Amino acid sequence: MRTSGDQRGGTHAGSTDDGKAHWVDRFGPLSVSSSTGIPPSVGDVHIWRGWLDQPAGRVWQLEQTLSADERERAGRFRFETDRTRFIVGRGTLRSILGHYLGIEPGRVRLRYGPNGKPTLDEGPDRAPIQFNLAHSHQLAVLVFARTRQVGIDLEYVRPVPRLQQIAASFFSVYENAVLSSLPPSQQEEAFYLCWTCKEAYLKARGVGLEQPLDQFDVSLAPGEPARLLRVEGKPEETSRWSLHWLRPAPGYLGALAVEEQESSTCLLHTCATSLTWRDL
Ligand SMILES: CC(C)(COP(=O)(O)OP(=O)(O)OC[C@H]1O[C@@H](n2cnc3c(N)ncnc32)[C@H](O)[C@@H]1OP(=O)(O)O)[C@@H](O)C(=O)NCCC(=O)NCCS
Repeated sequence: MRTSGDQRGGTHAGSTDDGKAHWVDRFGPLSVSSSTGIPPSVGDVHIWRGWLDQPAGRVWQLEQTLSADERERAGRFRFETDRTRFIVGRGTLRSILGHYLGIEPGRVRLRYGPNGKPTLDEGPDRAPIQFNLAHSHQLAVLVFARTRQVGIDLEYVRPVPRLQQIAASFFSVYENAVLSSLPPSQQEEAFYLCWTCKEAYLKARGVGLEQPLDQFDVSLAPGEPARLLRVEGKPEETSRWSLHWLRPAPGYLGALAVEEQESSTCLLHTCATSLTWRDL
């Protein structure tokens, strides 16, 4: 897979000096560059980021686009910050999908897989758009593709107390061995790289963290390309998925899992809504 983001760091997207696709600046809300204003073509993957703490007027606007069940869910949050961040994340997802489909955001219909993964509930006449969303702290990242399954994860990087114990409980034998072999100064980053890759892969498959996390290996050494290295009992999985580490903003690490297709290579585009870009 090629990326049109940062080529220097292997598969890290999100900062570039090559003048091609990156986190796009200077566009109105949901006005996007010529390459990302149309639904992703078969070979394209569009990655968006958006800040979740928005002015009250913008939150209200986005709230109007939510479905009844989404508003009900928003109403169940205990803290106002969590409520508004959910509204902004969902509203932004609806805005981008509506933009791609040429319909009002409020008319986008979603349905849910057995483990809660939202997908488009569109008629058979529409070309399918796959998507996934992750949020952490003040930031959301969203990924869109045409026919490929995609999964994305994001973490706001904070010190991890008991890092070794958490890794021992959740990571595979291989991943624990790599983590312990790294100098202490690199272990926190490796921990986040590992965690986000594993979650992005599971989210692409539409399953969740109830799956045993130690039954597959991902790369995690900082500086190495992100890769799915082994899946217990499913050797074909390693060539079916490509993984990409994301650095969408200072203090955040994420990962993207994209289903590979023999018919076409894939080009990553990264985009941003202007409302939020100014905050960077
Ligand atoms: C999916 C999951 C890993 C997300 O974890 P998280 O770190 O809390 O959240 P993230 O920010 O990474 O992602 C959240 C988004 O992923 C999407 N999502 C939800 N479930 C998903 C799933 N099973 N697969 C992929 N994406 C999913 C949603 O868009 C969600 O956004 P929303 O909360 O605004 O609706 C976690 O919720 C999980 O393990 N879910 C499965 C639980 C399950 O099996 N439930 C069964 C009954 S529904």
